[in-house]
Amino acid sequence: MSPAADSHRATRIGITGLGMHVPSKVLTNADLEKMVETTDEWITSRTGIKERRIAEPGVATSDLATEAAREALAQAKLKPADVELIVTATTTPDMLFPSTSCIVQDRLGATSAVCFDLSAACSGSVFAMITAQQFLLNGRYRNALVIGAEVLSSFIDWTDRATCVLFGDGAGACVMAPVKRGGILASDMGCDGSAKDLLYMPGGGSRNPPSHESIDQRMHLLRMNGTEIFKLATRAMADSAIRVMKEAKLSPEHVECFIPHQANTRIIEAVAKRARLPMAKVFMNLQRYGNTSAASNLIALYEAVKEGRVKRDDHVVLVAFGAGLTWGSIALQW
Ligand code: ACO
Repeated sequence: MSPAADSHRATRIGITGLGMHVPSKVLTNADLEKMVETTDEWITSRTGIKERRIAEPGVATSDLATEAAREALAQAKLKPADVELIVTATTTPDMLFPSTSCIVQDRLGATSAVCFDLSAACSGSVFAMITAQQFLLNGRYRNALVIGAEVLSSFIDWTDRATCVLFGDGAGACVMAPVKRGGILASDMGCDGSAKDLLYMPGGGSRNPPSHESIDQRMHLLRMNGTEIFKLATRAMADSAIRVMKEAKLSPEHVECFIPHQANTRIIEAVAKRARLPMAKVFMNLQRYGNTSAASNLIALYEAVKEGRVKRDDHVVLVAFGAGLTWGSIALQW
């Protein structure tokens, strides 16, 4: 099988700029040893994570998102006033409404942009890129700013050792537009709402609005069944990656860089094995950031490009998995 040839292509949508921003405060595994009953050895061997970034009190998702967006716009040489669409994927918006995208629009001065948020948990940036791609393919907008941003630390139970060691804060952003070469070759998305209770935050919405009782029961904090998530994530991510490679007519040897959602080294190793992708092609930075949910794939793509792991014309596969459950993949040529 050969990579999708450029000769018989229609217009494709590609990435014309990337940005990222993480808080400067580092929380190491050694710091966590002082907070809960855990060890650096346990966290490293079970997850691969060594440290994560934590936003200072008062810093919100739109603050990180705006910084990442500014860098992506500068790289794409796109003025804020010329941005036509902003889609922010987040599970930790500044507030229930207005959307974080509207807040970012105002901060950037992107006065012409249509803005909305997208909720797909850790699959957020992949879902948002695929969503923006549709508006660009059908010609409704000429460019889009896609952001994945989270301040998860505000919703973590810092007394629960099973979850507090996993997550971190951060933002990634990209500008998307029609491109003459490269671009998105194929995409895949899927959901399973029957597993909605495996990873969720029960409080703060219309089901359990804020009350003294909801606070006492810690309903405003993330809850997770890690073992079940682990099993489902491995299968769903691998199968999605296999589907997207097939649709893009890429065999594993034609993929130069595989960029999975940065949740857990063991999940990533199992996914790569199932999708027949050698670990040498897999990009990982979860050791430094932990799981940044909707920001994860975009931060990883940013660093993979910056470190020269993704070069011009390379074939890249992004794959994500998150609460919902949700999963999705993108195959693209850089
Ligand atoms: N330090 C020390 N011990 C711990 C810790 C910790 N931080 N956390 C749990 N343990 C203990 C448990 O209490 C348990 O003890 P017990 O046997 O005495 O009951 C023991 O370690 C084993 O616990 P398990 O949950 O079985 O450990 P497992 O090997 O499954 O690893 C983990 C747990 C790392 C959470 C794993 O299940 C996992 O990574 N799951 C996926 C979670 C994830 O990535 N979620 C997000 C992905 S989806 C998304 O990103 C939205």
